[in-house]
Amino acid sequence: MIPLSVPHIFGNEAKYVQECIETGWVSSAGAYVTRFEEAIAEYTGAKYAVACMNGTAGLHLSLRLLDVERDDLIICPNITFIATLNSVTYACARPLLVDVDPKTWQMDMDLLEAKLASDTYQEGEHIYLKSTKQRIAAIMPVHVLGNIGDLDKLMSISAKYNLPIIEDSTESLGSFYKGKHTGTFGKLGVFSFNGNKILTTGGGGMIVTDDEELAKRGKHLSTQAKVSANEYIHDEVGYNYRLVNVLAAIGVAQMENFEIVLKRKHEIDAFYKSELQGVGDIQFQDVLEDVKPNFWLCTIKTDKMRGLLKHLNDSKIISRPFWMPMNQLEMFKGDPYFSTTDNSAAIYESCLSIPSSSNLTDEQLKTVVKAIKQVY
Ligand SMILES: Cc1ncc(COP(=O)(O)O)c(C=O)c1O
Repeated sequence: MIPLSVPHIFGNEAKYVQECIETGWVSSAGAYVTRFEEAIAEYTGAKYAVACMNGTAGLHLSLRLLDVERDDLIICPNITFIATLNSVTYACARPLLVDVDPKTWQMDMDLLEAKLASDTYQEGEHIYLKSTKQRIAAIMPVHVLGNIGDLDKLMSISAKYNLPIIEDSTESLGSFYKGKHTGTFGKLGVFSFNGNKILTTGGGGMIVTDDEELAKRGKHLSTQAKVSANEYIHDEVGYNYRLVNVLAAIGVAQMENFEIVLKRKHEIDAFYKSELQGVGDIQFQDVLEDVKPNFWLCTIKTDKMRGLLKHLNDSKIISRPFWMPMNQLEMFKGDPYFSTTDNSAAIYESCLSIPSSSNLTDEQLKTVVKAIKQVY
């Protein structure tokens, strides 16, 4: 069996976890949590980092930090993993879906710009959707598969309409735009360290921000909003969202080897491109000139997607179709969707992710390529 995207554990993970167990520091009070926050802040260039139990919790907390209100709209791409929209729903808000660019598969910023100009109106400091009169409270772009869209345009939209950005950077640790790390463009950025991510703690997440107040309040809210260390007094409704020490210990060890993993991801992407570009109708995601992606999960586009998917999975080469577009899911069918040609549907029908774990051997990669070529 050749897996899709599995953890690559080859450093001090066991040693640091063992230390947590031996010292009894297994809960969120342990020192590895702070060390992991410092490591992510340093790597991404963010001033502050707040560790969370997972990326979904980080996104939910970020929406709460921006004081999103009931029935507010949050702009999200139509192609993303469900957790983006789940976090919006937990915050009692609704998604305003935006179709994706057919080449980069990221939120279409030109479409967003045009639709905001034609379909919204301004009242005071805020903008509202004409059709439903709902306030638009924030933009939550997703760096899908670790790739990045036109962030210059996104930043100018954000400034023009006074819309704060929460970057769903869950897939993009190691991805840079004009030399600046993802997650550091918006007011808040959120990473995930679940089992299939480029860096894993089994389950885990991290909010990054340059805003000291947001970081302080984020940590406060993630620890049940407890005001005093020794007494049970709380000043608002908080969450039990802080990452625990055992998992943070794994994160600290994973960060020590992150450059090795990232390099291997780049090699895997380059190998697949050199072998598969030009085979049948296979296409890869376009990467904009200013973007240096992490190549977390290699995904190809082909009209033979369904047949290829079956052939690979039958050959025990684990592959997966893309996420069903959010506007097609029952829970979000009624939400507004900015689109002219529904590129999302076409991408969903033709994309599949192929084995991309950083611990795959060259032999395994050749086996994957050979199996793919059999279909063409
Ligand atoms: C785009 C996207 N958003 C959010 C999440 C949620 O992260 P987590 O699984 O850590 O809750 C993930 C990863 O699973 C993701 O891929």
